[in-house]
Amino acid sequence: MSTRTLIRGGLVVTAADEVHADVLVDDGRIAALAAHGTTVAEGWTADRVIDATGKYVLPGGVDAHTHMELPFGGTFASDTFETGTRAAAWGGTTTIVDFAVQTRGRALREGLDAWYAKADGKCAIDYAFHMILSDVNESSLKEMDLLVEEGVTSFKLFMAYPGVFYSDDGQILRAMQRSASNGGLIMMHAENGIAIDVLVEQALARGETDPRYHGEVRKVLLEAEATHRAIQLARVAGAPLYVVHVSAEEAVAELAAARDKGLPVFGETCPQYLFLSTDNLAEPDFEGAKYVCSTPLRPREHQAALWRGLRTDDLQVVSTDHCPFCFTGQKDLGRGDFSKIPNGLPGVENRMDLLHQAVVDGHISRRRWIDIACAAPARMFGLYPKKGTIAPGADADVVVYDPHAVQTISADTHHMNVDYSAYEGRTVTGQVETVLSRGEVVVDRRTWTGRAGHGLYTPRSTCQYLN
Ligand code: URP
Ligand code: ZN
Ligand code: ZN
Ligand code: ZN
Repeated sequence: MSTRTLIRGGLVVTAADEVHADVLVDDGRIAALAAHGTTVAEGWTADRVIDATGKYVLPGGVDAHTHMELPFGGTFASDTFETGTRAAAWGGTTTIVDFAVQTRGRALREGLDAWYAKADGKCAIDYAFHMILSDVNESSLKEMDLLVEEGVTSFKLFMAYPGVFYSDDGQILRAMQRSASNGGLIMMHAENGIAIDVLVEQALARGETDPRYHGEVRKVLLEAEATHRAIQLARVAGAPLYVVHVSAEEAVAELAAARDKGLPVFGETCPQYLFLSTDNLAEPDFEGAKYVCSTPLRPREHQAALWRGLRTDDLQVVSTDHCPFCFTGQKDLGRGDFSKIPNGLPGVENRMDLLHQAVVDGHISRRRWIDIACAAPARMFGLYPKKGTIAPGADADVVVYDPHAVQTISADTHHMNVDYSAYEGRTVTGQVETVLSRGEVVVDRRTWTGRAGHGLYTPRSTCQYLN
């Protein structure tokens, strides 16, 4: 039996439009939108009516970069698929695309199956996978084709982390050539890891062991250089390219220059680069470890270029790179040696709110907020229009958002399984009120009504983002 829900009286905001409309949900999908007066006059009925008067009605967020349970630096990211997707829903995100990992010397299939198993029956919201390629060789190249057909249509390569995830330029070129023929999208971690490792060794030899040195050795120039190199390799291969977690102004300039030439080059940044800086990395008493991620946080001056890139569409997507490690017991591993601090920040719950604050602050428009957080990631990774918009036929992943509520972000109140917040004490305007995932209410006026296992694996088509 299908359940009809009517969301009445709100302002429906998508990447394309802002309309005062009532939204009818039937059987897990958006059935219709109509002017409020019409639905009243025509007597539209539903099993459940949600009053959205004075609120925004938004497509659920699509976070295209998360790492639940990621093994890294001798430990595991502290959010499981269960806790991490619940926190995502609390923050208005209704789809994540997480990264399955190929272990060196092993098949892609083995890694992907392991990630299917980790997530199966655990997720509160829908999910999909990218694949991390840590070992590009003849057989993994062949496997890429099969994964694309199966709905895993994007592959992350690393120019950083030698000995772990690192691929050399020849491997990168070969993977790009393969993606040019099979329709996959290469996602690049663009940092020159070989040079960075030299600087790490030299810094440690000088006794520079504090977290802030993580930011100093991972130089802007080494992000810009790797971004440039990735773009040129993609041109040679005739493949599109998506650069993940762009943090530096000089890297944005490389993307902008490529896009000015009409190349299919795309960029993602993350809330931590937009709202935090090297000032956080320099916090005393090892507190800086809370902010260790790669690419690293940059001096505050870089933020203006990131906002500009988001406005000009030189950057298309804001994802979180959610990869939480507890301060106590995990970040701790790097006391006395910053290179042993597990890399990553929590944020899956905070993205929609922080970006709404950017609307309030005038960095981006309301529709651009929904574009970079919902529609563009859905298009980029082949989930549109099932995800990322409110339109007849789309999945009823809907957020009723109170644009006037004021909240203070804190680890005391967040739902992520991590003992600190990177945004502790920050006051933001706007808050998620009610969340639907495929028509099921998972957050009801700030009460949890979701369940582990409601979320379904969602195979993806190839990239739908046109230049
Ligand atoms: O520091 C980060 N970003 N950790 C997660 C792994 C990655 O490189 O995205
Ligand atoms: Zn009314
Ligand atoms: Zn990365
Ligand atoms: Zn990542």
